[in-house]
Amino acid sequence: MKASIEVTPDAKWADRVTERLLAEIAPGKRLCLPTGSTPVPVYRRLAGSTSLEGLELFLLDEFGGLPKGDPGRCATMLSRELLSVSTGSANVHIPDVDAADPAEAASRFGALIHEGGLDLAVVGLGPNGHIGLNEPGSTPDQTTRVVDLAPLTSQGARLYGATATPTWGITVGMAELAAAREVLVLVTGGHKAEILQRVLDGPIGPETPASYLTDLDSCTFLVDESAALNGAV
Ligand code: PGA
Repeated sequence: MKASIEVTPDAKWADRVTERLLAEIAPGKRLCLPTGSTPVPVYRRLAGSTSLEGLELFLLDEFGGLPKGDPGRCATMLSRELLSVSTGSANVHIPDVDAADPAEAASRFGALIHEGGLDLAVVGLGPNGHIGLNEPGSTPDQTTRVVDLAPLTSQGARLYGATATPTWGITVGMAELAAAREVLVLVTGGHKAEILQRVLDGPIGPETPASYLTDLDSCTFLVDESAALNGAV
């Protein structure tokens, strides 16, 4: 495995991740950020410690088929958990799932990332091994695109407060993520221990798209002790 793994006690994990992110926050830096539950305590800390002024922020993914402003939309979560509580305005780029042609909007989003690449990609680990909305079956060469959601991911959106069950979305592809100068995979909680073990110990392949990241020197898995249980790490 080429990626690094760093395990931190649960109570110190968010501080540690915040420290890593702060090192990358400066005007003009290009960051891809996730939403979901995992980064929430990190965003709370970031908002209290730095300004986002001048950052180029790319949202990792977005659910289609939910009304604008829906609590389960990734853009709503990013705004709620980070942007609205931070100082300084970042230049925020969101995949446009409301476009008449979402496939074209996804290509445009990918092209925007390609223009200057990413200094840092931060991602969570899905319970089915997905990264962003790169679901099982995804290949490492796939770029930003419209995707169908795995059933677990569709249902999971409800946990974020989605008022309907999304079946598709737009995700930054594994290709753009792997090309980032640095990739951080955030993994917390005992409920992620089993999938983390599969990602780290299993074969690299489409069954667990997160496994592609284990083959990158530029990638670090930032794991709390609860997720590292079961011999996962
Ligand atoms: P979570 O989601 O942070 O809410 O666990 C991660 C993911 O599904 O990518």
